Amino acid sequence: MINCISCRNVLTFNPPSEINILHSMKTKQKYIVTSALTYANGYTHLGHIAGSLLPADIYVRYRRLNGDDIIYVCGSDEYGTAIEMSAIKEGVSPTEIINKYHEANKKSYADLGISFDIYSRTSNPSHTETAREFFKVLYDKGILYEKTDQQLFSEKENRFLADRFIEGTCPVCGYEEARGDQCENCGSSLSPLQLINPKSKISGDTPVIKDSKQLYFPLSKYQDDLNQWLSAKKNWKPNVINYCKGWFKTGLQDRAVTRDLDWGIKVPIDKYKDKVIYVWIEAPVGYISATKDLFTERGEPDKWKEYWQQPDTKLIHFLGKDNVIFHAIIFPAMLMAHGDYVLVDNIPANEFLNMGGEKFSKSKGIGSVVKDVLKVYEPDIIRYAIASNMPENKDTEFNWEDVVNKNNNELAAILGNFVNRVVVFTKSKFDNVVPAKHHETQNEIFDEIKKAADLISSHFEKFRFKDALTETMNCARMANKYFNDNEPWNLIKNNQDKCAGVLNNCIQIIHSLGILFSPFIPFTSDKILNVLNKDMSVFTWDKIGEEVLKSGHRLGENHILFPQLELPKQTESAEQNQLITIDEFSKVKLKTAKVLSCEAVPKSKKLYKLKLKSGNIEKQIVSGIAEHYSPEDLIGKIVVIVDNLKSAKLMGIESQGMLLAAKNGSSLKIITVDGGMTDGANVS
Ligand code: 2FM
Ligand code: ZN
Repeated sequence: MINCISCRNVLTFNPPSEINILHSMKTKQKYIVTSALTYANGYTHLGHIAGSLLPADIYVRYRRLNGDDIIYVCGSDEYGTAIEMSAIKEGVSPTEIINKYHEANKKSYADLGISFDIYSRTSNPSHTETAREFFKVLYDKGILYEKTDQQLFSEKENRFLADRFIEGTCPVCGYEEARGDQCENCGSSLSPLQLINPKSKISGDTPVIKDSKQLYFPLSKYQDDLNQWLSAKKNWKPNVINYCKGWFKTGLQDRAVTRDLDWGIKVPIDKYKDKVIYVWIEAPVGYISATKDLFTERGEPDKWKEYWQQPDTKLIHFLGKDNVIFHAIIFPAMLMAHGDYVLVDNIPANEFLNMGGEKFSKSKGIGSVVKDVLKVYEPDIIRYAIASNMPENKDTEFNWEDVVNKNNNELAAILGNFVNRVVVFTKSKFDNVVPAKHHETQNEIFDEIKKAADLISSHFEKFRFKDALTETMNCARMANKYFNDNEPWNLIKNNQDKCAGVLNNCIQIIHSLGILFSPFIPFTSDKILNVLNKDMSVFTWDKIGEEVLKSGHRLGENHILFPQLELPKQTESAEQNQLITIDEFSKVKLKTAKVLSCEAVPKSKKLYKLKLKSGNIEKQIVSGIAEHYSPEDLIGKIVVIVDNLKSAKLMGIESQGMLLAAKNGSSLKIITVDGGMTDGANVS
């Protein structure tokens, strides 16, 4: 058997001379794989992992096992108003924000085994240069055009306000805290000029309308070319193609590619030098800059061209469905306009991974943040749980019970069990050494595993990772069946040589399983290699179903690969964690209050606005009790309120506390105090 000296693939033909081997190297397919750049404005969460990171990593690891010429690039997306907003919220500079989250997210990805060739960042000077050069080519070619827009300008802050920095009343539903780009109450997509009483979220200033000149990219002109290019994509996921068809149907709109902001990459044209390039225009160019950074690091600064400027390269973007328009329409149109770069070959976009029926989001908190999750669970368990529940064609639901069940019932019970029983048996009966082969042992198991590996390959090629994982676990099931069917515990008593042969086969199978599982659970594959006392040298796809460990080879120390996990039920210690001290309780000031008035909140079925008197203080509280009481039921009642709650706005109305109520299912009763108690009394 001869392997290609570069990609290590087994050559299936019999080469008459070295020429054939070199020929196969020449035609080697190049791949650039990208995961959507992560905004460096918060900690990365499991939604990012399921959408764009894990599928890309699985794919890349599979291709590397095949010796493919593949680079995997990603990085932090560090401009745009999302970053500025977080900086304002955290009271620090945008630079501090991106430095903090870039490092944290880079670490989380490494801890989860995401095997980028580079995790770069768009604040790198190399990206600034590449993005400006890209933009200038479009401008110099006469592709961009100028148009005057009306925008909101804060005279107090002396700057134009980005959409996200403006708040006002929604013209559709009347919600008073609608954002300049969207109303979170009714979901309407808005433009800042539509808002009633717009205000700057930063200074509270009422902005004025001012003309502003912007450069536009004529996306509408590219519709026909894009449509034609996309209709040739026969192997794209139907959901991605359908999104594109929908946008073509509505008609593509030209896009402003500049913004009047400070935080961003300055436009490289004198006339517009005070503006920045719109983040969604420069960020995808980050894939090119990251590739340049990669090869600069490797001491081959021009090598990036062999990937980006070679038409046969397969560029594959992994991302969540919300990013499809930018990667399937806008970025390809920009690349077409530029002319020097390869266009995307495939976009295996995923739908969303939800938790409790809702999309994961940065604001959701601890349960979904990767760095916190990894404090509790091994990375491979999270990788396995997400991969087996990947939102490939529809949104899927994530929960912790599933993670625990997958660990106990699949990873531990099938894969871990096989490895453990074989290694324990080898240690006790064969002195921890690979026993001799035997002519009587049936070797069909290897053919079956090779057949399964071919099927798994075809799933990988089509980005069907869930199917690939199911088949991979089926190989581990097959392995257990082989062990059971051969009953080595009986053979050892009456046919020791045959028993040795069975165990020899089982050890080879462990090695094959190590390779098969490595795209999904790479840390476990490393552990398997340790248990086998082998290194990575023959850890390649073509070694699946092959005899790799010679008899006489000494195995390493056994390790339980997947210790059992507890279901996340309310254990005693969890309950204890939720106990609070008397000091903590005493921070909550409860008081009695008398309801003076109560009225319905317009356009809300649930809310009442109540005026209450608590001692000398009058308070206004908005409470979700309208479906349970009529206003007259409440007026005059002595109720219990949380007196020291920070005030908040509900439907734009200030609420200065909270009413206590007992709730069970759909039944709700407010807490009242009987027996002539006055308002303003302490409750403890
Ligand atoms: O949606 C997001 O999180 C963006 N940061 C993705 C950018 S992908 C690419 F264009 F850079
Ligand atoms: Zn609205």
